[in-house]
Amino acid sequence: MDRSLTFLGIESSCDDSAAAVLRDGPAGTRILASVVRGQGRLHAAFGGVVPEIAARAHAETLDLCVEAALAESGLELTDLDGIAVTAGPGLIGGVLAGVMTAKGLAAATGRPLWGINHLAGHALTPRLTHDCAFPYLMLLVSGGHCQFLLVEGVDDFRRLGGTIDDAPGEAFDKVAKLLGLAQPGGPEVEREAADGDPRRFPLPRPLLDREGCDMSFSGLKTAVLRTRDGLVAGAGGLREGDRRDLCAAFQNAVADVLVEKSRRALAIYRTHAPESPSFAVAGGVAANGTIRARLQALCEREGVAFVAPPLALCTDNAAMIAWAGIERARIGLPPDPAIVARPRWPLDQSAAPMIGAGRKGAKA
Ligand code: KG4
Ligand code: ZN
Repeated sequence: MDRSLTFLGIESSCDDSAAAVLRDGPAGTRILASVVRGQGRLHAAFGGVVPEIAARAHAETLDLCVEAALAESGLELTDLDGIAVTAGPGLIGGVLAGVMTAKGLAAATGRPLWGINHLAGHALTPRLTHDCAFPYLMLLVSGGHCQFLLVEGVDDFRRLGGTIDDAPGEAFDKVAKLLGLAQPGGPEVEREAADGDPRRFPLPRPLLDREGCDMSFSGLKTAVLRTRDGLVAGAGGLREGDRRDLCAAFQNAVADVLVEKSRRALAIYRTHAPESPSFAVAGGVAANGTIRARLQALCEREGVAFVAPPLALCTDNAAMIAWAGIERARIGLPPDPAIVARPRWPLDQSAAPMIGAGRKGAKA
């Protein structure tokens, strides 16, 4: 690599407004600034992300995020070589706010603009943090996404499978709600599960009996609901111990499904004869200690490197968008000043669309 590139990234596809400045050069890649302003507080009373509130908050916050990121990096707009913005998939109002902000900045500065697929941002992150070589296998597992991707190039993704209904993070959140725990539910359920007995309640492992890598989590959530109702009817309420055991059983069932489907995805990945096989995870659910440890153990058994970027880069952020822009620029993919916001945008155009649409918008 002969030339250093400095990119601004902008992300607003769900409930985080984010801007980041990244520099990639002969001396390596440095995140000069990464600003993420979550909207959790604005949506808390509604039990989920409200698209109109999200869109307005992005429109009000994004330029402040850009300003903060530039200040933190000590750079001016004129120091940038390019701008990259999430152009989909996601909640359309938020994506539009980001695209309009980026177009305005690009027009004002004359800097080239790249529209980035949000999922490509997640999927390329292992190359930002670990220099992962193509092809690698990726599991995106968050509140809005759940899919296995075979990443063969900067613009070359094959979906091997994904959820046909809820994403696992969504299921964690719903289970937390059913059991009277706070949101976001994942960390709460994990905390309760730590002292619970995962074997007391037999919960289903959906779709394990079906071939392939597709997954389903909505039935699991319903099974938790039925078990809870049974306990409440029998004892007149949910005891603390019951709640812990139910959380442990649920978490264990999710882990079993993810491990078995990952084993199958790894078998498909191996047919592509990767020189240095790697399995990367991203998304909030990858923060779960039990799930992470189980996936890591699977990789050790399979002789595959396990790559887990730091959490701040696994969850929604703009550094991954700037990085995806730099990757595209490096291989000569042209900028596109006329990008449009796309609510749905499957990474793998050849794969059949997934059924689930989910709380956090299109899963693509
Ligand atoms: O990637 P993320 O920050 O946002 C998107 O969904 O795009 O993921 C958030 C999701 C939430 O559903 C949250 O409950 C889940 O990740 N999560 C967890 C844990 N920490 C966050 N799920 C299970 N265990 C955790 N420790
Ligand atoms: Zn995301």
